[in-house]
Amino acid sequence: MASSMLKTHSFIFFLILFFITVIANRWSDSEIFGKYISISSLGLKRERLSHLHFYFHDVVSGKNATAIRVTAEASLTNRSSPFIFGDVYVVDDPLTIEPGVNSKMVGKAQGSYVVASQGELSLLMVLNFDFTEGKYNGSTLSVLGRNEVLSAAREMPIVGGSGVFRFARGYAQARTHSITQIHAIVEYNVFVFHYC
Ligand SMILES: *[C@@H]1O[C@H](CO)[C@@H](O)[C@H](O)[C@H]1NC(C)=O
Ligand SMILES: *[C@@H]1O[C@H](CO)[C@@H](O)[C@H](O)[C@H]1NC(C)=O
Ligand SMILES: *[C@@H]1O[C@H](CO)[C@@H](O)[C@H](O)[C@H]1NC(C)=O
Repeated sequence: MASSMLKTHSFIFFLILFFITVIANRWSDSEIFGKYISISSLGLKRERLSHLHFYFHDVVSGKNATAIRVTAEASLTNRSSPFIFGDVYVVDDPLTIEPGVNSKMVGKAQGSYVVASQGELSLLMVLNFDFTEGKYNGSTLSVLGRNEVLSAAREMPIVGGSGVFRFARGYAQARTHSITQIHAIVEYNVFVFHYC
């Protein structure tokens, strides 16, 4: 009787020890892989809202072109569509402080846009704004959104950023300032939450 109770006790003792060991191991594995940290450990203080204002220059042809059409094309690219559905452009477009292309440059918009609608002239924009001015020098914002270019105001999400824009989220508003066959100038107002 006493001996069987002893056996039961030591069994329970080993069972508890076993679970403690398992949980402790699990804990330390997951601590190595990922854990909660404080915001201040990354040097982040508080969230701020910034407003950036600049002009985007998209030059699609000529000696100074900043947007080039990708000539590779799927056999199904719909040439019969009046909206050049399926066209892909790669851009390195200057961002300037005034509408004039020779005004002070504050960065570049690098990435691509795809004509992604058969029913209207609508683009999928996949861009990084690479800033070169002041406290934003070296920092980027990433844009992923829909741009229906013929409407007066378009809104595109800012999905992230780097440098001073780490953890960024916000939106960009685009309005066409002027447009010719060759050169579109688009006014951008960007509103973005980020830390400082
Ligand atoms: C290209 O840019 C240069 C320098 O800004 C300018 O002098 C020239 O007129 C431009 N050429 C065209 C075709 O726009
Ligand atoms: C091509 O575009 C035209 C005009 O938008 C549309 O009517 C037609 O259905 C499209 N064809 C295909 C195969 O998608
Ligand atoms: C931006 O940073 C680069 C690299 O650190 C530097 O060469 C450049 O002069 C800076 N530009 C401005 C406008 O501060």
